[in-house]
Amino acid sequence: MSLSHSRRPALVAALSAVALALTALTAAAPHQPEASTSSAAFPYQDPSLPVPVRVDDLLGRMTLDDKLGQMTQIEKDALVPVSDLVTHRIGSVLSGGDSTVSPNNAQTWADTYDALQRTALGTPLGIPLIYGIDAVHGHNAVRGATIFPHNIGLGATRDPALVRRVGRAVAEEVAATGIDWDFAPCLCVARDDRWGRTYESFGEKPELPAAMATLVTGLQGDTLGADPASVLATAKHYIGDGGTAGGVDQGDTRISEAELRAVHLPPFQEAVRRGVGAVMLTYSSWNGVKAHGDKYLVTDVLKGELGFSGFVVSDWAAVDQLDGQSGFTGAEITKAVNAGVDMVMVPHDCKKFLTLLRGEVTAGRIAQTRVDDANRRILTKKFQLGLFERPFTDRSLTPGVGSAAHRALARDAVRASQVLLRNEGGVLPLPRTAKVFVAGKSADDIGNQSGGWTVGWQGRSGAVTDGTTVLQGIRAAVSDPARVTYDRYGNGIDATYTAAVAVVGETPYAEGRGDRPGGLGLDQEDLATLSRLKASGVPVVTVLVSGRPLDIASQLSDWKALLAAWLPGTEGAGVADVLFGGYAPTGKLPVTWMKSASQQPVNDGDGKVPLFPYGYGLTYSGADPEPTPTPTPTPTPTPTPTPTPTPTGAECTAQFRVASSWGGGYQAEITVRNSGSTPLTGWAVDWDLGGATVTNLWNGTLTPSQGRPTVRNAAFNGSLSPGGTTSFGFTASGTAGAPVPHCAAS
Ligand code: GLC
Repeated sequence: MSLSHSRRPALVAALSAVALALTALTAAAPHQPEASTSSAAFPYQDPSLPVPVRVDDLLGRMTLDDKLGQMTQIEKDALVPVSDLVTHRIGSVLSGGDSTVSPNNAQTWADTYDALQRTALGTPLGIPLIYGIDAVHGHNAVRGATIFPHNIGLGATRDPALVRRVGRAVAEEVAATGIDWDFAPCLCVARDDRWGRTYESFGEKPELPAAMATLVTGLQGDTLGADPASVLATAKHYIGDGGTAGGVDQGDTRISEAELRAVHLPPFQEAVRRGVGAVMLTYSSWNGVKAHGDKYLVTDVLKGELGFSGFVVSDWAAVDQLDGQSGFTGAEITKAVNAGVDMVMVPHDCKKFLTLLRGEVTAGRIAQTRVDDANRRILTKKFQLGLFERPFTDRSLTPGVGSAAHRALARDAVRASQVLLRNEGGVLPLPRTAKVFVAGKSADDIGNQSGGWTVGWQGRSGAVTDGTTVLQGIRAAVSDPARVTYDRYGNGIDATYTAAVAVVGETPYAEGRGDRPGGLGLDQEDLATLSRLKASGVPVVTVLVSGRPLDIASQLSDWKALLAAWLPGTEGAGVADVLFGGYAPTGKLPVTWMKSASQQPVNDGDGKVPLFPYGYGLTYSGADPEPTPTPTPTPTPTPTPTPTPTPTGAECTAQFRVASSWGGGYQAEITVRNSGSTPLTGWAVDWDLGGATVTNLWNGTLTPSQGRPTVRNAAFNGSLSPGGTTSFGFTASGTAGAPVPHCAAS
């Protein structure tokens, strides 16, 4: 478990104070963005030249120290003195989870960034620094920024286009503070809900995180650096962190290569296809080998097979973990850099790091060609981002931080992320004239509804930033706010109320501190509150604010309704919109909902019978909603077979795509499309296996056959609206042919 951001707080605070004092001095000067040099003294300074030409020219002018500095990323608060940027030619700065500025607002962040950049440009070659931060659900380090639902909620929306818009809004708020690089999206595929980072995953099946890689395009734009709000995105954490055994963060993912490729690789393939500029490695191991030292996965697969041309960054002090001892060594640095790490998030003690790194290079244990390759990758992104031409904050973006437009988008995302799991007797939507009793520790708590990575690494309960709580949303939704009573513990409820809304669940956490190997039930306060409400006889509507499914099967029958709200962020009114029918719920489970924690890990297709299956979600029309088909990345076009005419008029087509292949196996995806004019309530696809054997399958039920297996839609796939698509995937041993699958309505 990483003590990533909370070590030696007193020392860090002292260092921060000194760093900030220096920063304030340099920032005090009136902000005059320097005009970029109009006359280019050297080719690398000429924006009219192609990036590769500029990179080659710059590389040719760089000393070894220049190059090693570009491979070094330091925590802002560890830059003491700030002049270390120049002394050690440091190429990148980050703000870790607890790194902040004072006062914490967009203006101060922008001033801090500009002061650091101005210092960095003081090196002989004037290479701008690139500044990274975890804006994982909004620019969450900045008080007053818009906080969007965490990824698990965005996965429930099944709306890649919405997620792209969220990415764009986040980029605008990040760029408004000068920062150029977002350590997001996490494209982990969470397979065990006991894992503390489950909420950072878009879902448990590869096609969902892969589909939501649209966040990359939202952050970067269609072309990196094409406009001032474009920021570098980071696909993380490569690879397999979501498959860690027992849900132990930074643990060991013990699966075959076929399963690693089938389950955990597709989101990274899609991110690379979308041009993601950076990839961050996982702390985890794969079958006992630390990713940070795994040359096969990083260089051969990611850079070779996938063709990733951006740069690989380590996780926070992750290189230090390679030998199992604290304190990084030259050998650890060599193992990581030779495995394919291009930039090391040290993040403290740059002198020691650079001394060791320099020693490894001069001793020949790290080849100069490896150093040059790392620099080429890093500098290419700096040029593409436009940092040489626009090194300072574009202050025209600053008013956008926490803007009404971004908050409205966030509210849309909150609505679309709500998953209605139970609605006995149609108790929801509540009438706006209702007399409502609201209870629960998370009903009036921005911190709880935002979760971890919110104005601090671990987040915290309370009024951590500006926003609307669920209670405030309820009060705004009813016709007479005087008919809304709130008591956190449920004290005072009586039979005169139309309904009781209990907003309960988890308090904030991040990373390993959120691991829950001992159970996933509600805490004692929530259980006591719920029993008070139950005793009143008033219908109970439970709203779960949590980073994952919780073990609530034994309480479920006490509740008339259950709404999974996930971690909605600052726009709690989006939850009230669903409770009062302003928006009929459309969310679908991005993860299987366990019957009990003893089922963990529990995932779609594993044969276990869950409480609610992956893809489940009710709405208010009475019938199941028109299921939003599981989005799929743009499939590579293959000839569409002529649809099979069926007497009901329901028709479907199927397209076959090889998603990846390796020695002796491959992963494929078949996209089913309703080509008819009426909803398709069932389909069956068969295809010629060409001698291969299906080894793993998701989102369908397989009738195996050596020659021509058949897959039928899984029960919860529901019906497909005309033109709608869904997909199922499988891995197979043998080589992939190019079959033309046959689809029939069933
Ligand atoms: C953390 C996380 C990673 C984050 C990094 C920088 O430990 O694992 O997701 O980007 O450090 O804060």
